[in-house]
Amino acid sequence: MRQSGRIVAEILRILAENIKPGMKTKEMDIIAERELKKRGAESSFKGYRGYPATVCVSINDQIVHGIPGDRIMKEGDIVSLDFGAKYKGFHGDAALTVPVGRIKPEAQRLIDATRESLEKGIAAAKAGGRLGDISAAIQTYAESKGYSLVREYTGHGIGRKMHEEPQIPNSTEPPHGVPAGTGAVLKKGMALALEPMLNAGDWHIRVAEDQWTVLTADGSLSAHFEHTIAIDDKQAEVLTRGTYD
Ligand code: MF3
Ligand code: CO
Repeated sequence: MRQSGRIVAEILRILAENIKPGMKTKEMDIIAERELKKRGAESSFKGYRGYPATVCVSINDQIVHGIPGDRIMKEGDIVSLDFGAKYKGFHGDAALTVPVGRIKPEAQRLIDATRESLEKGIAAAKAGGRLGDISAAIQTYAESKGYSLVREYTGHGIGRKMHEEPQIPNSTEPPHGVPAGTGAVLKKGMALALEPMLNAGDWHIRVAEDQWTVLTADGSLSAHFEHTIAIDDKQAEVLTRGTYD
């Protein structure tokens, strides 16, 4: 898990550093494929439930699961990159949102709050604690900054499969959320992917005609950060820690 986490962190860093105005989103996929091959690793996403690419590239009001293609990333856009790798039988999964060139202060604030909400969730993830503690920590912080949390998509257990039990809601609200102090008990050695998605507007979503891309219903900006972590008695170990997240 440490090795696959490291690979994910390295490749996300390379993607983040290579984004420039004028690039097509599919160029991200080409870089990710090349870097996976170099490391003898495989994509966790490609072919997963029919997903056709290696990275998810989601721009501005796109929340998650954007399929790389001919869309051009422009100065001022914010781009969420979500990437998973399988190495020696284990998966790592992480995401981050990066600016393309200069962006508006309000977009930077959303990115910063999303990164920090993930940190709050990680800090709340300790052996003996409950799933709801993680959700409550993420939600309390995100809402204190004036953002809403996507409810329909959650984090997840991770290991030999990319998605394992339990689901990790980012919010205590329905349909998946549970309050602080409730939900599954966290145990040392559990590997979890936490992945808050914050919207500048409200939490409602819509899914595009491609059946993958998830967007904010109100057209507001959205950001996404994710880390794979291992639960311990004290601070969880972050297996996908990189330079920008
Ligand atoms: N990080 C996302 C998740 O855990 C990525 C999945 S994209 C998919 O759900 F294409 F693989 F479905
Ligand atoms: Co994930």
